[in-house]
Amino acid sequence: MTCPISSGIAEIHGQNEDQMMTGPRLLYGEYLRLDKILSAQRLLSAEYSNEVHDEHLFIVTHQAYELWFKQIIFELDSVRALFSFENNATYNESSNDLSANLDNGVSYVLNESKTLEILKRLNRIVLILKLLVDQVTILETMTPLDFMAFRDYLCPASGFQSLQFRLLENKLGVKQEHRVKYNQSYMRVFGRDPAAIEAIKRSEEEYSLSALVQRWLSRTPGLETDDFDFWGKYKRSVEKMLAEQEQAAHKASMEQAREYLLANVRSRQAVFETIMNESLHYALVSRGERRFSHGALQGAIMITLYRDEPRFSQPHQILMALMDIDSLITKWRYNHVIMVQRMIGSQQLGTGGSSGYQYLKSTLSDRYKVFLDLFNLSTFLIPRHMIPPLTKQMKTKLSIASNGWNANDGQDNPKNSSESS
Ligand code: HEM
Repeated sequence: MTCPISSGIAEIHGQNEDQMMTGPRLLYGEYLRLDKILSAQRLLSAEYSNEVHDEHLFIVTHQAYELWFKQIIFELDSVRALFSFENNATYNESSNDLSANLDNGVSYVLNESKTLEILKRLNRIVLILKLLVDQVTILETMTPLDFMAFRDYLCPASGFQSLQFRLLENKLGVKQEHRVKYNQSYMRVFGRDPAAIEAIKRSEEEYSLSALVQRWLSRTPGLETDDFDFWGKYKRSVEKMLAEQEQAAHKASMEQAREYLLANVRSRQAVFETIMNESLHYALVSRGERRFSHGALQGAIMITLYRDEPRFSQPHQILMALMDIDSLITKWRYNHVIMVQRMIGSQQLGTGGSSGYQYLKSTLSDRYKVFLDLFNLSTFLIPRHMIPPLTKQMKTKLSIASNGWNANDGQDNPKNSSESS
């Protein structure tokens, strides 16, 4: 097999060797800048003339993480650009300049032909994150005593200062107000690095993946009230379902069972009320218990219920991939916190100055879940036989690939066409 980095390039591109002589003609190590990467393992313990074998693993592990963070951010930026990219605009793959795409008054329209590419890249992020979750176990082969032998040399360096990790969180959509208290001052750790501060500010101001996904979901075809009006139909189905459940509860012969069933129906009614009533929904958003806009939530529910329709198949897979990303980051946080407890216990401060294990444990809560509402969607599912049937028109619309998931959806069909339901 020929190697594309050396002579193979000529064969692949059909060039002759003369042409190749004028090119850069890089060898493997030069192309990959291995001189830089492989000389970047500086053992502090060795510099203090007390070399600790495991410090090498500690450094390589962190560097590997940072490289993968870089790749995730690269994919994430491209996915955000694809989400923000206007139907007819020319997407400049090399720039991924999201601010340019969004700030120039571009309407937030996703060209559906891009959904496959989005899905591919999101799934790539998922696979990388799986690797990162598993990678923690390699570092766990280091014993706490071995770590103790070089830990003091590291101070005040800490993963808390990982710029890429913060960028990753912000670009996904972690909001400042949802972070735990100690973390709120994380900007201070970059005080000496204006470029890092600038990058963080930019990542906070730009549209996050969550914001872009919400815009996309709120335009789900079928939500238009003057057309299929999914939400109106869904609401009626929910009311019918709850009424039937209440009737069935009243019929229970044993009093204890009846009370239990009635209490269950009432609590379900209250939960459904929080999505039917927009102001109740936004009250939960302001308390940090929900993230999505009301329109986005409607779109997500619709896609989930009709995921078997061809046009909703990829969007549904995108929703699953977004949940996978959230789950895997939570799993990483969990594996990291368990490793930290094993290495330094639960009472020592971190080298970055936090309460260490206690601080990290508090980051495991739902507040860091960007796609929290997708996880909670199952609360709002209704049995298959109660899902509002699609109209003929809607069935056709969802059965074919379309040019765009756009503002015209719902208006491109004559209003007087027959409905099957
Ligand atoms: C022996 C192994 C490790 C220990 C004992 C450890 C310890 C800690 C501690 C105590 C913190 C809290 C901040 C502080 O006060 O320092 C922290 C944060 C962090 N560490 Fe580690 N860590 C280890 C390995 C890693 C690895 C391999 C990574 C991979 C990049 C990593 C990434 C992070 C990140 C991103 C944070 C910030 C988390 C947040 O604020 O939500 N750590 N680590």
